[in-house]
Amino acid sequence: MPALPTLNIVPFISVENMMDLVLNIGIETFLDELAAYIEADFRRWEVFDKVPRIASHSREGVIELMPTSDGTLYGFKYVNGHPKNTRTGRQTVTAFGVLSDVDSGYPLLISEMTILTALRTAATSAMAAKYLAPENANCMAIIGNGAQSEFQAIAFKALLGIRRLRLYDIDPNATKRCAKNLRNLGFEIQACRSSEEAVEGAHVITTATADKQCATILTDNMVGPGVHINAVGGDCPGKTELHRDILLRSDIFVEYPPQTRIEGEIQQMPADHPVTELWQVIAGLAPGRKNGAQVTLFDSVGFAIEDFSALRYVRDKLSGTNLYENLDLLADPDEPRDLFGMLLRRKALTATSRKPA
Ligand SMILES: NC(=O)c1ccc[n+]([C@@H]2O[C@H](COP(=O)([O-])OP(=O)(O)OC[C@H]3O[C@@H](n4cnc5c(N)ncnc54)[C@H](O)[C@@H]3O)[C@@H](O)[C@H]2O)c1
Repeated sequence: MPALPTLNIVPFISVENMMDLVLNIGIETFLDELAAYIEADFRRWEVFDKVPRIASHSREGVIELMPTSDGTLYGFKYVNGHPKNTRTGRQTVTAFGVLSDVDSGYPLLISEMTILTALRTAATSAMAAKYLAPENANCMAIIGNGAQSEFQAIAFKALLGIRRLRLYDIDPNATKRCAKNLRNLGFEIQACRSSEEAVEGAHVITTATADKQCATILTDNMVGPGVHINAVGGDCPGKTELHRDILLRSDIFVEYPPQTRIEGEIQQMPADHPVTELWQVIAGLAPGRKNGAQVTLFDSVGFAIEDFSALRYVRDKLSGTNLYENLDLLADPDEPRDLFGMLLRRKALTATSRKPA
């Protein structure tokens, strides 16, 4: 944690500094350590404030606020999801977030979270797969080769030892770019011409497509026994990726059921369809994968605690670095109640400085 020179200052991590932090630590180590923070917070799930994220839907996308607190720290993330954005050079998902001190209510950190969201989503997926994927899984299909895809691949390599990738995207250029970015990182990569081809021989299937509709990226006949599905792209009402029949024969693991029932693949199912909360598996209160034939599904939508863990991790990693800027974010009058006086003093100061010499 950087030492704060004065009370008005909040450390701010720009995109550039986040990239340098990730590169200095090393992306696999970053994902590994971040997954450990997320896992530790899932283990103490019950201490957190939890609420389904607050979503503002429009025809083209969604803007969401994701708050949580463990009683000592408070965090929130602003995030959007606009699948049409890539057509105009924008990201589908952008984000930023804040970590605060519950005792004073003062923000401790403000950070870019577009890159951090990709990292935390991948770290959460791979962490879940440690408990759910078949033993010795080494081959993963990734359907949807956009912004999240390389992060998913690297997290699964770091945490699970995935070495073989089968990539498919409706846009062949996306697959080409993903394969190019991942070359020299220790993968054996197969670019595929269809989802059907991509899932052949895969032990893990990651779906990370973006489309604001109920899509059918996977049909039931594409999912063989023993497979683990890491469904990342279905994360909004009316935005799903899996055929309902897959859900009927999968053991489904979720982050926070009140949010996932609104946003996840299970929005297609009755409100009482059985699911297991991932935190219970991590805490040893519920089984993860039980046998080699079981189809497991992580119905990922992204929950506030994962962002909280990510901000907590980044804050710890900032210590001793200069990878932040001092943001003059909080008014800090000499006398705390003299906020207006501070404004008057500023007026006097700027008037003096404007006087001609
Ligand atoms: N679960 C979570 O925690 C979480 C976190 C971040 C993003 N997401 C979601 O993950 C998805 C991917 O995000 P992104 O940032 O990589 O988006 P992106 O727009 O960068 O990439 C999505 C890719 O999916 C491809 N695609 C669309 N329809 C397809 C189809 N039918 N078959 C194959 N490919 C298809 C597109 O061509 C594109 O390359 C989005 O839906 C996003 O909302 C979820």
